[in-house]
Amino acid sequence: MIYSRIVGTGSYLPARAMDNAEFAARLETSDAWIRERTGIARRHIAEEAQASSDLALNASRHALQAAGLDAAQIDLIVVATSTPDFVFPSTACLLQQKLGVKGCAAFDVQAVCSGFVYGLATADSFIKSGMASRALVVGAEVFSRILDWNDRGTCVLFGDGAGAVVLAADSRPGIHASVLHADGSQVGMLSVPGNVSRGRIIGSPFLQMNGQGVFKFAVKVLEEVARETVAKAGMAIEDVDWLIPHQANVRILEATARKLGLPEEKLVVTVDHHGNTSAASVPLALDEFVRAGRIRAGQRILMQGVGGGFTWGATLATL
Ligand code: ACO
Repeated sequence: MIYSRIVGTGSYLPARAMDNAEFAARLETSDAWIRERTGIARRHIAEEAQASSDLALNASRHALQAAGLDAAQIDLIVVATSTPDFVFPSTACLLQQKLGVKGCAAFDVQAVCSGFVYGLATADSFIKSGMASRALVVGAEVFSRILDWNDRGTCVLFGDGAGAVVLAADSRPGIHASVLHADGSQVGMLSVPGNVSRGRIIGSPFLQMNGQGVFKFAVKVLEEVARETVAKAGMAIEDVDWLIPHQANVRILEATARKLGLPEEKLVVTVDHHGNTSAASVPLALDEFVRAGRIRAGQRILMQGVGGGFTWGATLATL
């Protein structure tokens, strides 16, 4: 039996950090409101010239270095993003070009904030089926480009960044189980309902959200999918060393851990200094905790996504 293992992690945050005070200076909001309702104090914002593929490139280089591999040894590139550089070609193909390699399969996955978990499950399936043996899975976003910076209800929540992992075929698991779900009847709850047509933007190019609806939905499905994934792997919630939920809002993260009966020490929280980086949030958080020596080899991590679509999913892995 072939399994896949995470053999390297990497991440990248744009240099510019933006504190809540910058919002308070020009909108009817305050540092206290944002911290209390979301737990967010800071986020990073990409420079005008930086696109998702640039952020992805930096994160990928770090992950490849950690794995001790060259880009030429990768035979699958999956990029999860809702903020691609172009309508096409895919950000994965642009990343492949920037990595200076060619030939391997490369494509994007679009599942908004669940994108990384969807991408990881896809790459794991490629490896298990023998379609690939070393995969680069990246979550990269420049959400700052799709925010209405005058809408205090949404612009304070998000940030830019990228995270990446290298998956390699192995005789030991690695990834134990993944579960993915979607409910297209909820398309209106969180969306950027616009497109480019005949040289014009049709609809809205800005993120729209039913905040309370998202909150309730996220807490419900994050608990359900955690239990489903752990059961599929033949394990129990107590076997999980670290819970890495999509970093949307600290209250959603804490409520999920509480409902699962997981102690606070097992919950990975980076939303306070990253904001919500959508598909990048889980690999960014994973890499930060790995580099800090907090998440260690041999530990079991439960990664979770939830986002527009609605989409949600989880992957349980031993590092
Ligand atoms: N500063 C000050 N006041 C604000 C702000 C702000 N930044 N944003 C909204 N308000 C106001 C509203 O206008 C409203 O004012 P009103 O009573 O005069 O109408 C008041 O605060 C209460 O608004 P609610 O939307 O009811 O506030 P709530 O307590 O629900 O908090 C929030 C809003 C933080 C968005 C919350 O609903 C939430 O966190 N939802 C989850 C959304 C989320 O995480 N989205 C991320 C994308 S989805 C994902 O990643 C899964």
